[in-house]
Amino acid sequence: MLRIHDTTPVKFHETLVEKFREIVGRYPEGKQKSALLPILHLAQAEYGWLSPATMDAVAVFLSIKPIEVYEVATFYTMFFLNPQGRYVLEVCRTGPCCLVGAEKIMQYLEQKLGVKEGEVTIDGLFSWRGVECLAACGMGPVLQIGPNYTFYENLTEQGIDTLIDELKAKSQK
Ligand code: FES
Repeated sequence: MLRIHDTTPVKFHETLVEKFREIVGRYPEGKQKSALLPILHLAQAEYGWLSPATMDAVAVFLSIKPIEVYEVATFYTMFFLNPQGRYVLEVCRTGPCCLVGAEKIMQYLEQKLGVKEGEVTIDGLFSWRGVECLAACGMGPVLQIGPNYTFYENLTEQGIDTLIDELKAKSQK
């Protein structure tokens, strides 16, 4: 669901704009909309999610209508339309992983982090959600961590404890 709760205009910094320009340059003149997906990925990496204001700024940059950005961003589940934790723990919830305990892993994450799916922990570090097959079906339960999509396989509750401790320690460096 797209929530209109951040309407502060977004101005991309010059380094980001340079990257946008480089991507647009890969396409023929007048076909700048083809750069939309990679630009949205960069914008999300920059801000952690795609606010309506960010999507509007992308539309301005590409000289397209905001709705053209919204319809793409709301279609692909890799784009976040609400603020997320610094680490987004995405657990595969498809059949083969469920057969080896994915649902228990998600319950454990909810209990361990104290937040429901899609919510953010008070310290801003974590959010989690179930996602469809991550293409590591023989190594379930599987989890990936955005925004860089590192994989963790054969998950156990103990493994989750270790992972969360490591991420907390990393965030303090
Ligand atoms: Fe979980 Fe494919 S079913 S990775």
